[in-house]
Amino acid sequence: MTRIPLMAGNWKMNKTAAEGAAMVKDLWGRIQSLSGVEAAVCPPMTALHAVAQALQGSKIALGAQDIFWKEKGAYTGLISPLMLKDIGCKYVIVGHSERRGRFGTADASMTPELMTVFGDNDTTVNRKAQAALEHGLRPIICVGETLEERQAGNTDKVISDQLQKALQGLAADGDELVIAYEPVWAIGTGQVCDPTEADRVIAMMREVVKGCLGKETAEKMRLLYGGSVTPENAPAIMEQNAIDGVLVGGASLDAEKFASIVSAANA
Ligand code: 13P
Repeated sequence: MTRIPLMAGNWKMNKTAAEGAAMVKDLWGRIQSLSGVEAAVCPPMTALHAVAQALQGSKIALGAQDIFWKEKGAYTGLISPLMLKDIGCKYVIVGHSERRGRFGTADASMTPELMTVFGDNDTTVNRKAQAALEHGLRPIICVGETLEERQAGNTDKVISDQLQKALQGLAADGDELVIAYEPVWAIGTGQVCDPTEADRVIAMMREVVKGCLGKETAEKMRLLYGGSVTPENAPAIMEQNAIDGVLVGGASLDAEKFASIVSAANA
């Protein structure tokens, strides 16, 4: 089973519309000759329209960073699946640890009290993934353990638990769904997970997906690694058997760096 690697950039709360549009034009110029890899960018909501326009004629896919599960209504501040589809999104990140209120020690200003501000949990993650699939969007579901959970030896349990709850009741073909393993302690810290350990966890995750969605779906599905991915460490990550791509934060903001990461899939 050959899975086309997905190299996705999560811009988080960075870039204006004009900055985003300029970046993706620069990026496409650098990666257009590559084949056998899919690149995607996930700009903030305010830049989606401008970036969608700038991506016309390119093969870079567009994704959003969050979604609400209702189609429309009195939900101030939220964005519906219909709206994301309308603007040209193919992917949507669901359940990023920052939206689950699971920040690592990298951001000490997020106190326990403030951490609940975005409010995602296993139930909302499941609903969001379901809504995305129902509207023809491909969810990139994120799971990951905190440093405390890893140190307590609970990594596999935490990850399989998050995964089973996220996938509950979903009906998806393997290429309609993406899962990212993003250890919370590796996000934005410069402390990348050892590639062989990321590979071990991701192989375990594929077994969990098999149990939830069946063998065929699990074998088709792309499982990504995210957390302090750089042009320097991307080749070692992409060399692993079980890893089908990366979800990149900081290094995806720079066209040159992200292009270099994308080309690691192609090497
Ligand atoms: P960094 O690449 O900045 O560590 O962020 C990873 C991430 O959270 C991607 O979703």
